[in-house]
Amino acid sequence: MSHTNRFRMPVLALAAGALLATGVAAQPASAHGGPPLRTLAHRADVRIGTAVDMAALADDRTYRSTTAREFDSVTAENVMKWESVEPQRGVYDWKPADDLVRYARAHGQVVRGHTLVWHSQLPGWLTAGVADGSIGAAELRVILRKHITTEVKRYKGRIQQWDVVNEVFEEDGSLRNSIWLQQLGPSYIADAFRWAHAADPRAKLFLNDYNVEGVNPKSTAYYELAKRLRAEGVPVQGFGAQAHLAIQYGFPGDVSANLARFEALGMQTAFTEVDVRMILPVDEAKLATQASYFRRLLDACLGARSCKSFTVWGYTDRYSWVPGVFGGQGAATPMDEGYGRKPAYGALGEGLAAGR
Ligand code: G3I
Repeated sequence: MSHTNRFRMPVLALAAGALLATGVAAQPASAHGGPPLRTLAHRADVRIGTAVDMAALADDRTYRSTTAREFDSVTAENVMKWESVEPQRGVYDWKPADDLVRYARAHGQVVRGHTLVWHSQLPGWLTAGVADGSIGAAELRVILRKHITTEVKRYKGRIQQWDVVNEVFEEDGSLRNSIWLQQLGPSYIADAFRWAHAADPRAKLFLNDYNVEGVNPKSTAYYELAKRLRAEGVPVQGFGAQAHLAIQYGFPGDVSANLARFEALGMQTAFTEVDVRMILPVDEAKLATQASYFRRLLDACLGARSCKSFTVWGYTDRYSWVPGVFGGQGAATPMDEGYGRKPAYGALGEGLAAGR
């Protein structure tokens, strides 16, 4: 993942710690004169959120103030993932996640928990134990239940929505052949939701994946899974479409119809990780197309009663994950590396101002 080289100054970290503890009370008007996105979002009855890079939050004063000013929902980009919270078996590192939850409380933001069960960013002790057979299926199920219960209980009452399982289907709608499916069978999904609900009955529990924005075999697999599990009384309460889009591909079809079918099941919906990458270099036409993609996703959310949460996966190109993964691509977020507002930022503001 590409991060702008940051020279971390201890004094900044101390200041960050102080600020994280105190936070800022009021929301100053956004520097561009218009109201901050979160002010417009409140009027539109939707949470506007961002994934948060905790290193940037500690080191970058502008990032820290902009995150507070513009967003009323935050998602841990990495620090609530299993590799981060339990790097060694039974040894926990909650500080970064605690810092985010504290920051959110100080700034009147809700928190999306990301993510409890995934095939990626698992701690090495877990994957090695499964690989060498020292952790068998029965023990793995106990370990998974303990992980979910421990993390969800720690933040009980402070997480609005949990991405309980992340990316469990392949593009063709078949179940991803992860260690969870291999070792535990498909029942791990229902178990994860039941365990999370037992640990925090108030948190809304989501399925979450990419390439499920429109109607396709993958999103239909989620629809059928949610329909079946809910009929069995499993607390599958939300469907999250990550929406990692790219302008060189078409905009997904049937987005509103897709959200509507989950809504018809009685579920909440959300866009959870929105960014719209492009092949560099940037030009005005690409930025305009990007802005249209952000706006069309937001309009689909505001057009669905069930969609009350719209989260970008980082809001400044300065810290975006995209360049480190997609060579030659980037500029995926609503602000540039210098926090300049791109047409996509304006599109979000206009969409929020237009409301439902
Ligand atoms: O923490 C280590 C650090 O100790 C080490 O020095 C550094 C250099 O290798 O790596 C750091 O770990 C990185 C981690 O982010 C934390 O910064 C990993 O290399 C890097 O691969 C990891 O990337 C994250 C990626 O998930 C992993 O798949 C991205 O930041 C994050 O934006 C991305 O987010 C995912 C969502 O969770 C799920 N949906 C897709 C989305 C994009 O892949």
